[in-house]
Amino acid sequence: MTHPLRILLGCAALVAISVGLVTPSATAESLQLPNDSYKKAAAADVKFLQTRLADLAKKQKAGERLLDGQIKPALGVALLVTAYGEALGDAALKDNALKVAEAIDKKDFANAEEWAKKLAVQPGTPATVGKLPKPFKDDLILMAVMSPFRGGTVGGLNIERDIRDMTKMTNPTKIDPATVEILAVRTAVINAYGFHSPNEKARTSPANLKKWEKYSRDSIELSNQIAAEAGKGAKADTAKIKTLLNTLNARCTECHNDFRDDE
Ligand code: HEC
Repeated sequence: MTHPLRILLGCAALVAISVGLVTPSATAESLQLPNDSYKKAAAADVKFLQTRLADLAKKQKAGERLLDGQIKPALGVALLVTAYGEALGDAALKDNALKVAEAIDKKDFANAEEWAKKLAVQPGTPATVGKLPKPFKDDLILMAVMSPFRGGTVGGLNIERDIRDMTKMTNPTKIDPATVEILAVRTAVINAYGFHSPNEKARTSPANLKKWEKYSRDSIELSNQIAAEAGKGAKADTAKIKTLLNTLNARCTECHNDFRDDE
């Protein structure tokens, strides 16, 4: 079953849905991911959080310096887990992930580790239309959710590099559908947060905001498609996945060229 997690709806769209004119899938910025894919990504990300936070708590206790590159992806992944909890109708997962995020934001890693230990994926009955939890200001959310894209050696989930390695011209890495399925859930949810957390430049004019929303929406839509194909497992069309990943990579770059000034 595919569960839509919607983040923002114009009033017109809400009315349209309530009178049955459009189905939730008609709204492009909504996530259309199979519950099974959410479950797999949730399991992987809970594990990442538990490991990362145990490490940060240990270092903090020992008085060691904590690196931003280790902290930001933890905050970003905690936000992703809140979204999975919402989409899966798993209130405890969502609430506990929010506690994790709040403790990370306060740099209280002992508490963050304790809350992370409570994270367990137990899907319930999802609301018809889920809402993306946004516990922080837009700028912090954007910075946090983009950071898991960073390289593994600098504390991220290596997503950007993995996409590029799978799509490069010479010696691309082999496409493993199970790995790509989780990657696509992450990129879908990250871009959904991005859609709703435009940066300062994107907010300077309606034209800029429109562009920002288009890049985000395209990225969500491509990620939905990648997750659907990769979810077929051994029967997945890896050539199709590669083409979709290539297009996704282009959207990332276009948005960065227009809106990112830290590069
Ligand atoms: C809608 C625009 C937009 C899209 C689409 C987008 N990004 Fe970003 N990205 C940004 C902005 C803006 C920043 C800078 C955020 C900040 O640090 O404030 C950023 C930051 C990053 C960073 C640096 C994170 C850090 O912690 O320093 C990476 C890596 C990244 N993006 C990868 C990607 C990848 C990979 C994709 C596509 C799968 C993607 N982005 C899609 C706008 C976008």
